[in-house]
Amino acid sequence: MIIPVKCESGGYNIYLERGALSRAKEYFDLDRNVLIVTDSGVPREYAETVALQCRESMTVVFPEGEASKNFDTYKSILEALVKGDFTRTDCVVAVGGGVTGDMAGFAAATFMHGIDFYNIPTTVLSQVDSSVGGKTAIDFGGFKNIVGAFHQPKGVIIDPDTLKTLPDRQISNGLAEAVKMALTHDKELFSMFEADSFDIDMVIERSIKIKQSVVEADEKESGLRRVLNFGHTVGHAIESNTPTLYHGECVALGMLPMCSEKVRARLIPVLNKLNLPTSVDCDAEKIIETMSHDKKMAGDTISVIRVENVGEFNIAKVKFTDFSNEIKAVYKK
Ligand SMILES: NC(=O)c1ccc[n+]([C@@H]2O[C@H](COP(=O)([O-])OP(=O)(O)OC[C@H]3O[C@@H](n4cnc5c(N)ncnc54)[C@H](O)[C@@H]3O)[C@@H](O)[C@H]2O)c1
Repeated sequence: MIIPVKCESGGYNIYLERGALSRAKEYFDLDRNVLIVTDSGVPREYAETVALQCRESMTVVFPEGEASKNFDTYKSILEALVKGDFTRTDCVVAVGGGVTGDMAGFAAATFMHGIDFYNIPTTVLSQVDSSVGGKTAIDFGGFKNIVGAFHQPKGVIIDPDTLKTLPDRQISNGLAEAVKMALTHDKELFSMFEADSFDIDMVIERSIKIKQSVVEADEKESGLRRVLNFGHTVGHAIESNTPTLYHGECVALGMLPMCSEKVRARLIPVLNKLNLPTSVDCDAEKIIETMSHDKKMAGDTISVIRVENVGEFNIAKVKFTDFSNEIKAVYKK
């Protein structure tokens, strides 16, 4: 299936199809110098399958995990680009999860003012969400994604076959972002999660189409796209304070205070079914202190996304003190 994404800085296609990894050169222009970026936890065969289809390629492998989303990894990718004599007509291909995509995309966005970037996401999280939309970033100073750039990919291959090697906890982790899409946009998908009647291909397709429509409407996050941050303001603060939790697990927790009582009552059983956490292990005060540095703060107000009814959302500016009190109340329960 081809899902086209239209955007001001040029459109691109998402190729969603089992086995597409081995047909990458049909979809991407790999007839040039290609830097493949992957991490140490991604089965090496995926990057090798891409390398075999390139005219010329080099591969950078960085240590797996969120802790690698930093300047050292960024520097190592730039060093490879310089060492390999890459020019503006060459390209970078990410093969991995959201960390690999964000890192490789950020390096591609900044090397020589931006070179072509292709993404081959291999985790549920990156297949349902992060591979589309052109946000690239690294963590810095204790804050998630605080240094970044918009750089749209030239193409995205989503091959659900790559998920066969993904551990169960990572599957659940990624499904948290799909639950986010369902809660804000797709009540039918949410009901399927409730009834346990979903298959992964369908979840990926419905989620990535929601992401596509949102980023097409608001490429640079000046309005509507902020809905994709549903659960993330609190989630990022939890993530900064609880390094043992994965990103999606923190988003799952972050969604809880952003729902009405009745939606929360439906969300908790879904999170339980998906083996996602529903109670926080760190001090609510710490979460609030971290949130006070959030990019969405303006003076003493913060912009938040709420879900009052499944499948709908609203964006509101609220006083930070009121917001903090709500968070404390939900996490105390
Ligand atoms: N750019 C965006 O729009 C956006 C959106 C949401 C999240 N993100 C970012 O995405 C990141 C999280 O992504 P993630 O959850 O994919 O984490 P990740 O990239 O760290 O991948 C999770 C783990 O799975 C391993 N892995 C990857 N593919 C595998 C496979 N097929 N089989 C076995 N193991 C595999 C990786 O080595 C890693 O250890 C966060 O840094 C978050 O900020 C970005």
